[in-house]
Parts: sequence; structure tokens; C-alpha cells
Amino acid sequence: MALPVGVQAGAELERIEIDLLLEGVYRHYGVDFRGYALGSLKRRLTRRMRDEGTPTLSALQDKVLHDPDAMERLMVTLSISVTSMFRDPTFYKAFREKVVPLLRTYPYIRLWNAGCATGEETVSLAIVLEEERLLDRTRIYATDFNAEVVDRARAGEFPLSRMKAYTENYLKAGGGGEFSRYYTAEGPVARFSPQLMQNIVFAKHNLASDGSFNEFHGILCRNVLIYFGTSLQLRVHTLFHESLVNFGVLGLGHKETIRFTPLEHCYEAIDSNEKLYRRVA
Ligand SMILES: C[S@@+](CC[C@H](N)C(=O)[O-])C[C@H]1O[C@@H](n2cnc3c(N)ncnc32)[C@H](O)[C@@H]1O
Repeated sequence: MALPVGVQAGAELERIEIDLLLEGVYRHYGVDFRGYALGSLKRRLTRRMRDEGTPTLSALQDKVLHDPDAMERLMVTLSISVTSMFRDPTFYKAFREKVVPLLRTYPYIRLWNAGCATGEETVSLAIVLEEERLLDRTRIYATDFNAEVVDRARAGEFPLSRMKAYTENYLKAGGGGEFSRYYTAEGPVARFSPQLMQNIVFAKHNLASDGSFNEFHGILCRNVLIYFGTSLQLRVHTLFHESLVNFGVLGLGHKETIRFTPLEHCYEAIDSNEKLYRRVA
């Protein structure tokens, strides 16, 4: 059914205003949200308009371009850094059972955790590798385009109040032993042990604009591509493909897949439910 002319024109104008806002942000601040999925962008920009008290997207654009603090707030809203330790415990269980044996065959292991947010995912990965006696010969590069979350991740401190839920996730993920041995409680903070953190390099990297920076035996990028539109997803898949050694492992989020992308034939599934794949071409 065709939409009434007024509704169509409103949607078109909204699209123009979004495009102009994102283009302005890119040209002024160098941060590229232009390829992000439209539905999620619309919801988040509507929230920003409300919270900034701007009546239109064009007014929000004006504010963001002239006020770096408003840009900072926009960045927080659009970058969605929700995360947790051993998020989707079955993923880590499959990683331990099916990916660890493959990693064991390498004398030295390089992993990339792209879109690491505040580091909970990276620390979970380090714990699995530590328990499998692989952490000593592994370097994990953990990156995100949001400098603020990268700094928080590097600190290795997480809210103590989350540890009960994380312990449950850890056990469901096949963790063996006391989760609390990995951190010390300091007031409201759980500080994770330096031994666990020492082989992790945290750095800023933007999947929308930066290139490959190493060759990896495994890449984990979970719950990031879901926010990207099709062409940005393809850019990132191309980057991952270029950055993986042959037989290197790619791990995606539960709602993400390599299927139906032009690179599908370059991978075989290690565990299709857990979105674990291996580069074969
Ligand atoms: C929902 S969090 C996922 C965190 C973690 N991977 C997980 O699954 O729990 C998405 C993360 O992707 C990051 N991100 C979004 N766009 C990005 C980009 N263009 N380059 C790098 N990271 C990006 C955000 O800053 C955020 O930290």
C-alpha cells in the first residue's frame, strides 16, 4: 500500500537531515557513522534530540557541530557499549571446546577482539585462554573506536556489583574453579589481575575507516556488525578476511552471520549456532 504523500515527504526529509548530520559529523570530527543501520540510527538520534532539547535533526546537527560536548554525548548514544563478561555463555563453551584445540597448534597466537567496548569480553577471552594454558603465548589486540571505553577497558576494573552475574555466566561457559580468583575487591570495584591483563594490547581502531594492522589466528567481533548497514558490514568482513591467516577463526554475535555475504564461501562453520567460522579460502 502506498504511503500518503505527506508521510512520504516527511520520511524523505528525515532521511536528508540524518544524511546531512552524519556527513557533517564525519567532515568536522572524522567519526564515520554514515554506514550504520538506519532503524537503530533513527531511534538513537530521536533520543538525542529529546535529551539535547533540539526540535529537529537539523537543529541537533547545528548543536553537535558547534559544541564538542554535544558531539561527545552523540558519540556515547550512537556507539552503544553495552557488554558483559561471558555474554552468551554457550559461545565461550563452544570457543573452549572447538576453537582452543585449533589455536593450540600455533606456537604463538595473535587474536583481535574488535569492538571490545569496556573490555569485559576481552577479559573473558583471556580467562578461557589462561585456563587452557594458552595465555602465555597469546597476544590479544582489543580495539574500539571509542577512546573513552578503550581507556576504561585498559584499567581492568569492573563494577563489583556485576560479579555475581558474571560468576554464573562463567560457570555456564564451562569455567573451572572460583571466578573470584581472577580479581581483588577494592571498594565498589573488582580489579582484574595484572597477569590476566598483561598480554592484552588495548588500542583505538575504527572499523568504518581504519585498515588491517596485523595477521590474526582469530578475530572476535560480537554485537557490533548488527548496528552497521550492508555495505559497511561488507567493508568490515573484507577487512577481517584480509586480517585472518588461512584457517584463522572468526567469531560473531548470536544475531550476526557470515552467511548471505559475498565472503560466505571463504569460510566454513565450526559451530553455526555460535557463529564460529574458519577461513578456508
Ligand atoms: C554493543 S557493544 C559490543 C561489545 C562486545 N563486543 C560484546 O559483544 O559484548 C558494540 C561496540 O562496538 C563499538 N563500535 C561501534 N562502531 C564501531 C566502529 N566503527 N569501529 C570500532 N568499534 C565500533 C562500540 O563503541 C561498542 O563498544
